[in-house]
Amino acid sequence: MFHLRCSVPDCATTLDLHDRALACPKCGDLLEVVVPRPQHDPADLKRLWLNRRTSYETRDTSGVWRFRELLPDVYGPTGVVTLSEGNTPLVPAQNTRFFGGVLDLSFKHLGWNPTGSFKDLGMTAGITEAKFVGAKAVACASTGNTAASLAAYAARAGVIGRVYLPAGQASANKLAQALDYGAETIQIEGNFDDALNTLLDSKDPNLYFLNSINPFRIEGQKTAMVEMLEQLNWQIPDYLVVPGGNLGNSSAFGKAFMEMKSFGLIDRTPRIVIVQAAGANPLAHMWETGATELTAVAQPETVATAIRIGNPRSWKKSLQGVHFTNGFVLDVTDEEIGEAKNCIGRDGIGCEPASATTLAGIRKLTRAGKIERDAKVVAILTGHVLKDTDYIIKHRSNNK
Ligand code: F0G
Repeated sequence: MFHLRCSVPDCATTLDLHDRALACPKCGDLLEVVVPRPQHDPADLKRLWLNRRTSYETRDTSGVWRFRELLPDVYGPTGVVTLSEGNTPLVPAQNTRFFGGVLDLSFKHLGWNPTGSFKDLGMTAGITEAKFVGAKAVACASTGNTAASLAAYAARAGVIGRVYLPAGQASANKLAQALDYGAETIQIEGNFDDALNTLLDSKDPNLYFLNSINPFRIEGQKTAMVEMLEQLNWQIPDYLVVPGGNLGNSSAFGKAFMEMKSFGLIDRTPRIVIVQAAGANPLAHMWETGATELTAVAQPETVATAIRIGNPRSWKKSLQGVHFTNGFVLDVTDEEIGEAKNCIGRDGIGCEPASATTLAGIRKLTRAGKIERDAKVVAILTGHVLKDTDYIIKHRSNNK
């Protein structure tokens, strides 16, 4: 049976799937959805998922719900709130390969989702659950992308969307999206961490919380890895490189690999490599120093505003995936992010600054001999090139 469980193995307190709790009642840590082993044989499951690509049933047109055997799929065909998210391509790198220093590089471009970021993958699952439990209003704190996504899916579900943004720090494009989709926007003096604290402190019983501490969001985001492996014909890459902010996405990817391995869908995993911005690098710092607890960065600062986060909530979950896959964590400077973003643009792909941490990280690792030149590498691009046009105009106004 699907249910909720505390993500700390030593605690493992269990709750009903629809409990609405965001934290373990016993130890206060984050919850996760426990997914039972699917009934199907792995080969049948892979065939079933692939065949659904030719179906126009609502859930099959979604690159999230197409993989519903791995999701809490209790909503039926009409219960899901979907914008046909997912179904994003794996784009082969051309010039970027040389920049990164690896021969076999591709980008899973999650910025090519309905609202232009990977958040849609989690939001379809989160809002579907919110609607199922009868929520009338949903809310998140955000550096911009979660806000845009929540706003769109709340509109589709016919519920009130409320977003808390760090005043003056989210890109104008993301704020514009949230407004256009009709969300109530609340600007908080301070950074993302302050905005999230304000929201969590509000303890409004009528609000359904949709930050990535919501375990249903993680379930949706998890499917990006299933889709990626399907696109690779289940040939496992050596490295999977992902930006790290609040660390929900890397947690989701770790969970995906743990489940796929335990269900016999894969027999090995890529190594998860998390890349943070140097000015907002609490996990990279923890990794480098060998510390066992995370120390928050009080004043996070980076041009990659999406990941300007000093106190990531999902760090423990995220490290579980890094350890499980024998991966690692590093950081890159704003200058390195800028160079990498420029290169991704010149490859005809484009992305927002936070996404370019991946290519910058790959370059740093190949130069240090930590990723081999002949390794098979997939980098996750998390946001669309049009997500932060101010950055582009500011840094590229002298394009020749
Ligand atoms: N890339 C982009 C474009 C993002 O918007 C975010 C997070 C991340 C990477 C990091 O993902 O937090 O799961 O580690 N954006 C959140 C937001 C915080 O509010 O939109 P993470």
